[in-house]
Amino acid sequence: MKTINISCSRDYNIMIEPGLLSHAGELAASFLPPCKLCVVTDETVGRLYGGPQSALFKSLASAGFDVYQYTFPAGEKHKTLETVGAILDYLSEQRFHRGDALVALGGGVPGDMTGFAAAIYMRGIKFIQIPTTLLACVDSSIGGKTGVDLAAGKNLAGAFWHPELVLVDTDTFDTLTDDLYRDGLAEIIKAGMIGDATILEDVVREGFQADLSADRTDKSDLINVIVKALRVKAAIVAADERETGIRQLLNLGHTIGHAIERCSGYAIAHGRAVAIGTVMACAAAERKGWTDSNCADLLRDLFLQFGYSLDPRAGAAELAAAALHDKKARTDSITIVYPKQPGECGLRPLPVSELEGFIRYGLDYLGQ
Ligand SMILES: NC(=O)c1ccc[n+]([C@@H]2O[C@H](COP(=O)([O-])OP(=O)(O)OC[C@H]3O[C@@H](n4cnc5c(N)ncnc54)[C@H](O)[C@@H]3O)[C@@H](O)[C@H]2O)c1
Repeated sequence: MKTINISCSRDYNIMIEPGLLSHAGELAASFLPPCKLCVVTDETVGRLYGGPQSALFKSLASAGFDVYQYTFPAGEKHKTLETVGAILDYLSEQRFHRGDALVALGGGVPGDMTGFAAAIYMRGIKFIQIPTTLLACVDSSIGGKTGVDLAAGKNLAGAFWHPELVLVDTDTFDTLTDDLYRDGLAEIIKAGMIGDATILEDVVREGFQADLSADRTDKSDLINVIVKALRVKAAIVAADERETGIRQLLNLGHTIGHAIERCSGYAIAHGRAVAIGTVMACAAAERKGWTDSNCADLLRDLFLQFGYSLDPRAGAAELAAAALHDKKARTDSITIVYPKQPGECGLRPLPVSELEGFIRYGLDYLGQ
């Protein structure tokens, strides 16, 4: 088993191994006393890995936990205060108390909402993350950011609340579609750009499939880059847990990416939107003379190699307006993450009045 430690206001481990769902009970019992556990998941993941007959339930029950499940419809459009309210109502109906806990089972949507529900139920209860998408595994399940979207934009309400433990069963990735793999691979590549160029070398290497292949049995290459990507995020979170400084580096491609997601009505999923946003931000930074790293070409070629569509399906004015609803928007300037070289990025303020032009540079590069 691979174990990575996150060291911040709460220290916790990420454990990665095929088949881990069957051992979730004994692992959880090392961190939690016998209590009620509510598995919170979406309908798709609930059907695949939840329910009383699942390996997860059986393992948790045999470790002495009293197991419940709350299920909501899958998809970003359900990452709302209404869904969190329904989770809280369910917990109070089932008489969950302060010593009870939640289990986030699924991708970033169940993860973000379960963490938020845990942060505010009875002013804070414990929770465990069990990410079942590659994106959630390398990004959303660690670092303590939880929350929901509001009508005005993504992740506008939330809290910092860390899990007790993150359990990654890489066998759950067997049921991901190629597009869901692409969403996660985009965040792995982002981690490589920010803090570890060897990730990019690993991914570029001939033969690396990122499991966009018929044969998903050998995950050693994938686990190798997952561990490296987690180490990049763990180091940044340890240095700046509350995103007052360098944690903003993790937002590479996100200002434009969130705008792309929002303008598409969430038809372009988070990871793929971030991939497009990252190429656009790199290209625009190069055209502005902030960097001569040629990272835009590197990333564009990489994403095309793995079959991404790099069409943002929106114009510069529309994207700029959507980006300015984003929580990263400050009154008169926003912070842009740009590449200095593969494995190293920097932060620069951009006047809000220049954002539309910046985005247009990115669109020009993509030929849009
Ligand atoms: N908190 C953070 O730090 C952070 C970081 C990055 C992204 N996010 C958030 O994460 C979300 C995106 O995450 P996501 O792409 O995992 O979203 P998601 O949870 O909506 O999952 C995407 C789809 O995959 C399905 N799915 C999940 N696991 C599966 C499996 N093993 N097999 C088959 N299908 C499966 C889900 O049912 C869903 O339809 C966004 O809301 C984004 O804002 C949060």
